[in-house]
Formats: sequence, C-alpha cells, structure tokens
Amino acid sequence: MTTSHTSPNGSLVEAAAATANELVAACAAGVRAPAYVIEGCVASLIAGGHVMIEDVPGVGKTVLAKALARASGCSYSRVQCTADLLPADVTGVSVFDQSTRAFAFHPGPVFANLVLVDEINRASPKTQSALLESMEEQQVTVDGTTRTLPEPFMVIATQNPVEYEGTFPLPEAQLDRFALRVSIGYPSATDETLMIRELASRDALDMVPEVSDVAALRAAKAALDHVHVDPSLAAYVVELVRRTRDDARVDLGASPRAGLSLVRIARARAMLKGRDHVLPEDVRALASMGLSHRLLLTPDARARGAIASDVVDEALLEVEVPVG
Ligand SMILES: Nc1ncnc2c1ncn2[C@@H]1O[C@H](COP(=O)(O)OP(=O)(O)OP(=O)(O)O)[C@@H](O)[C@H]1O
Ligand SMILES: [Mg+2]
Repeated sequence: MTTSHTSPNGSLVEAAAATANELVAACAAGVRAPAYVIEGCVASLIAGGHVMIEDVPGVGKTVLAKALARASGCSYSRVQCTADLLPADVTGVSVFDQSTRAFAFHPGPVFANLVLVDEINRASPKTQSALLESMEEQQVTVDGTTRTLPEPFMVIATQNPVEYEGTFPLPEAQLDRFALRVSIGYPSATDETLMIRELASRDALDMVPEVSDVAALRAAKAALDHVHVDPSLAAYVVELVRRTRDDARVDLGASPRAGLSLVRIARARAMLKGRDHVLPEDVRALASMGLSHRLLLTPDARARGAIASDVVDEALLEVEVPVG
C-alpha cells in the first residue's frame, strides 16, 4: 500500500483505509465476486452511495449484501419487492394506540443502515419512487412528520436483467440515484469448484467476520474530506461526462449528479488504496460502473446493438488523461 505521510490528516486517512480494507477482505472471505465489485460496494458504503446489482439468479447478490452488513456491523433489513408492496410497507406507518390514545410510528424496513431491496423492478412505480426519494433525501415523511434515516445509510438493490415479465423497469431518472451499477457474473471454474466444496456444509456468511462498526464507518466517511481532488482531475471527470452527452448514440447523457457521485466514490476508492489523493485510475476503474446505467441510448443505437458501457469505454479512450 502506498500511503502518503505528507498530510497532517494522514493518520485519519490511514485509519479509514484500514477499515475499508478490512471490510473488503471480510466480504471476500464469504463471497466470490470480482475484487472491483466488492471494492465498489465498500467504497459506496463509506462515501454514502447506493448500489444496484444487476445479475441473473443465484450468483451471490443477496449474499454480497448480507456479507457487507455483517462485516460492517451495520443494522440490516430486506425488502422483497412485489407489485402489491405499498410505500408504507417500506417507510412505515403511524398506528393509533388505544392504550395511550395517540398515534405511534412503526418504522418500516428502510430504517436500517443497509437496506437490501430485492428485485426492485417488481415494485410498483409508486413504491419505487417512495423508496428512491428516501435514498436521495436520507429521510422519510409519514403523515406530515419527517424522520431522518440512520447514518450510514445505503441501499443495495437487485434486479434480474433477463426477466421482464411483470416488472416495472426503473426510469433513467431513478437509476441516476444509484452511485454504481455492478454485476457479479459467474465465477471461474476453479472458484466455483472451491465454492461448492466450502459451502457444502456451511453457509457463506459464516465465513464473514464482523470487522467494523457504525462509528468506524462514520469516521471513515469524515476522513474522505482529507482525500484531495486535483482541479485537473475534476476537469477530467467533467470532460468524460460531457463526452457521453455529445455522443450521437445517446439521447440522455450523464448528469452533473453523475460526475459528482463518481468523484465521491473515487475518493473512497483512493482511500481504500491507501492514498490521500484521487488519481485518474480511480475514476477510470469506476467510470463504467458509475456512468453506464445513467445513459439512455437512442432507439436507433439500441436497434443496432449499441450498449451504454461502450459509450463510456470510448469516452475513456478518447479523453486525455491528466498527468499528475
Ligand atoms: N459468488 C458467490 N459467492 C458465495 N456464495 C455464492 C455465490 N454465488 C452463489 N452463492 C451461494 O448460492 C446461494 C444463492 O446465492 P444468493 O442468494 O446470494 O443468489 P442471488 O444472486 O441473490 O439470487 P436471486 O436472484 O435468486 O435472489 C447461496 O447459498 C450463496 O451462498
Ligand atoms: Mg437474492
């Protein structure tokens, strides 16, 4: 690890880097997923971003979310989405208590540090938007009273990319609320064999140690303020984002929120790598996961088989990388 000692806040960043790396190692002990996926999830948790895991059934989406909750010592809840799930099932309800003759609030599952929203595209648009509103604002308003959600707060949503029947695909404006969209993919044959042997008699989560707590996560988030972003790097991100807007295949390019979110997660990745400054490689490693899901391609480009990640990959090839 290349740790910079030049900054007086170096020790804060070092402590946060240790927390982040312990989290990555703890998750990796139970979940077989590419390192960049686990690192992306940990960076999002620290930076306060939400993650969409889009993948086929049975590749470890749920187990990854649970591993992160367990390793981080966070409170955890799960929402299984169906078409009849109501906004109040997620946010909570006020119920009249006869004994006290007053309304008492029963918090919904969204009141947890880490909320797994399984098959988010099966929830009705009304419920999706209630959920996405709480993600954006980190608060919930029920019966006129606004309640703040816990800190840290992270939603890990899942959706299956191959089954569309009975689903309500999330509009791009709502996908924009996710810092990253990742997929786990199938493991290598060696990994799959090892996994089958290891998990024949035990649960993947039994292998995940609890290595952190909410206080350490809050400290890690605060340490992000000491991770420097050079003006040339900000300009690089802006250029990448603008390139997606100018692309002829794109109807709706990446928003300013996208660039901002990318830099936030890149800071957490830099910290995870033991640095107190962001490098272009942090941005490049996250760009496809951080931008592709926010792009809306033209019907013509889609008909010709273009995919959003091609647009991002080409922008990465074309935009000049700052030397720093
Ligand atoms: N990459 C993986 N690492 C560890 N365990 C895995 C992995 N893939 C699958 N498993 C194991 O397979 C089972 C199913 O995994 P999991 O429930 O996480 O799948 P999922 O992607 O959430 O599927 P679904 O879309 O059906 O909800 C679990 O017992 C889990 O331990
Ligand atoms: Mg699952």
